[in-house]
Amino acid sequence: MGYKDVYARWQADPEAFWLEAAEAIDWVEKPGKALFDDNAPLYEWFSDATVNTCWNAVDRHVERGRGEQTAIIHDSPITGSKREISYIELRNRVAMLAGALRAKGIGKGDRVIIYMPMIPEALEAMLACARLGAVHSVVFGGFAANELAVRIDDCTPKAIIAASCGLEPGRVVHYKPLLDGAIEQAAHKPDFCVIFQREQEVAHLTEGRDVNWHDFQDGVEPAECVPVAGNHPAYILYTSGTTGAPKGVVRPTAGHLVALNWSMKNIYNVEPGDVFWAASDVGWVVGHSYICYGPLIHGNTTVVFEGKPVGTPDAGTFWRVISEHKVRSFFTAPTAFRAVKREDPKGELLGKYDLSHLNAIYLAGERADPDTIEWTQAMTGKPVYDHWWQTETGWSIAGNPVGIEPLPVKIGSPTVAMPGYDVRILDEGGHELPPGELGAIAIKLPLPPGTLPTLWNAEDRFRKSYLTTFPGHYETGDAGVKDADGYLWIMARTDDVINVAGHRLSTGGMEEVLASHPDVAECAVIGVADPLKGQAPVGFLCLSNGVNRPHEEISAECVKLVRERIGPVAAFKLAVVVDRLPKTRSGKILRGIMVRIADGTDYKMPATIDDPAILDEIKGALQAIGYAKEG
Ligand code: COA
Ligand code: AMP
Repeated sequence: MGYKDVYARWQADPEAFWLEAAEAIDWVEKPGKALFDDNAPLYEWFSDATVNTCWNAVDRHVERGRGEQTAIIHDSPITGSKREISYIELRNRVAMLAGALRAKGIGKGDRVIIYMPMIPEALEAMLACARLGAVHSVVFGGFAANELAVRIDDCTPKAIIAASCGLEPGRVVHYKPLLDGAIEQAAHKPDFCVIFQREQEVAHLTEGRDVNWHDFQDGVEPAECVPVAGNHPAYILYTSGTTGAPKGVVRPTAGHLVALNWSMKNIYNVEPGDVFWAASDVGWVVGHSYICYGPLIHGNTTVVFEGKPVGTPDAGTFWRVISEHKVRSFFTAPTAFRAVKREDPKGELLGKYDLSHLNAIYLAGERADPDTIEWTQAMTGKPVYDHWWQTETGWSIAGNPVGIEPLPVKIGSPTVAMPGYDVRILDEGGHELPPGELGAIAIKLPLPPGTLPTLWNAEDRFRKSYLTTFPGHYETGDAGVKDADGYLWIMARTDDVINVAGHRLSTGGMEEVLASHPDVAECAVIGVADPLKGQAPVGFLCLSNGVNRPHEEISAECVKLVRERIGPVAAFKLAVVVDRLPKTRSGKILRGIMVRIADGTDYKMPATIDDPAILDEIKGALQAIGYAKEG
């Protein structure tokens, strides 16, 4: 059966389609039906079933004879270490950790924040929570204490599991002081923290609150898998929205299991036992779905890579890992290949490695520019598949269904809608546009299994952010085109979200930080085109009357402030002082025009602009920092 047949089969009978996919999951109580629509436009899947995620990701493989298979390969060029953990070891380690958490009072529904680098213990912590039905929320290591504090207050965790440190090239990331600072800032206090001490930095434990990862497991009873309802939240993952307050995306347990398992074969084309590698971070959705859960649920071997595409030690690292561990499907963000290409444009380092086990390369997380796809394809001789999705969906909205049937690649398009997604291009009034026309990308409700049913403690925000603009549809926040063959082309965000090195960031959040600087009266942050990171944030500052300190000093303070409040991951390095910001007569800042000026692309002077002369000033300010080039 080809893609068109599979998609048509889903369209004709979604209920049967998803119940069939659900057969690949071990249920405690099987689902009586797939979709629960009594609360539409809020939908749930498999709510009447009971199931455990950890059982499906770990124990069942041991039961079925895969115990000796490697579950996790940890490859850490940054520490010079490699380690393999079999499914049976993983089961034992996770059961002990879960037992220790249970002994300290963690149970079904309790939230646990995980703040860890790319070490297997991060996955073990996630799985231990899943084993108990506790709801984890992993926070990316590149966020500052303030961002961690915001998440602590939003999901009110009973426990936090952290490592003593993370490692960036040339720099130790001191997690423990960040954690202590966050707990101090937060109004909510966790009952206890579990600290995994890394040999690179042993952290000071706070008496009465912190326990050592190993010590607290001493003598505990291993925990069994606790069955939870199909609609029980598996985890909360915070992602950037329009404001500084992150959105807590809720992942429903049963749909997550069914959809991820389905995607491993149909999209990534791997069989159980194959090695699958997603070079991302457990702090992002790619890390949740395709470093931890997807490959493990499907019985694959997953690679946990602690390093960078370049500099650890060189631009051949990806090729080394692929060759050494016999990776069959490889997934990363385009920015990673841009970094490799910049260092090794002729792909000379590739010659040292045997990529014969590699079938295909998958890209997502940001727009895949044709140059990067073509270069990667030419260097590796492997097909490169772009696919498009979001934290909210947890798996591909559009992709190339290679495991069903590889479709012809159109470079620049993430290919076609996956079964489960009825993708529509809408005009401002919510009418469907004909093929080839640019509009807002929306998905007709219901979304498929695995996607977010709501935002944590914020159902109103969920409705307002996603369900209100186009009633009956989910608003993706992306704009794009569907061509006559049904291929999608993702062009830009329709909101203030930018994408820097595959990391989703809120310009609104950065503006909130800049506005808090005592000398800043008004500000705007835009994402300008960046040859390595896709986009880079640039801040414009209008100073309060009477401020006459050197502009460079204020700009530098603002850069520091964003790093302190949001974190290094914001990659906020440029802030310029301007007299005024371009606005419409009604006072709306014209950020879109500023982006076009910065990128040197054509723009139409908006009829509503208050004073067109301001644009020249903006251009001058941008040229002074190397943007808005002419010609
Ligand atoms: N913990 C702490 N700090 C982190 C971090 C982490 N897990 N990840 C990144 N940072 C820091 C970096 O050290 C850098 O700090 P600096 O300003 O002191 O140099 C800053 O955050 C910005 O990071 P990044 O934007 O990633 O830039 P980079 O120059 O370090 O690396 C790439 C550029 C392209 C090599 C890198 O972004 C990369 O490997 N991307 C892969 C794509 C990816 O993983 N995407 C995730 C979604 S799929
Ligand atoms: P995140 O939630 O961090 O995964 O970011 C999701 C956003 O990244 C999407 O809404 C898009 O704006 C962008 N994105 C992800 N994948 C792609 C892709 N393949 N092509 C274009 N944009 C993408």
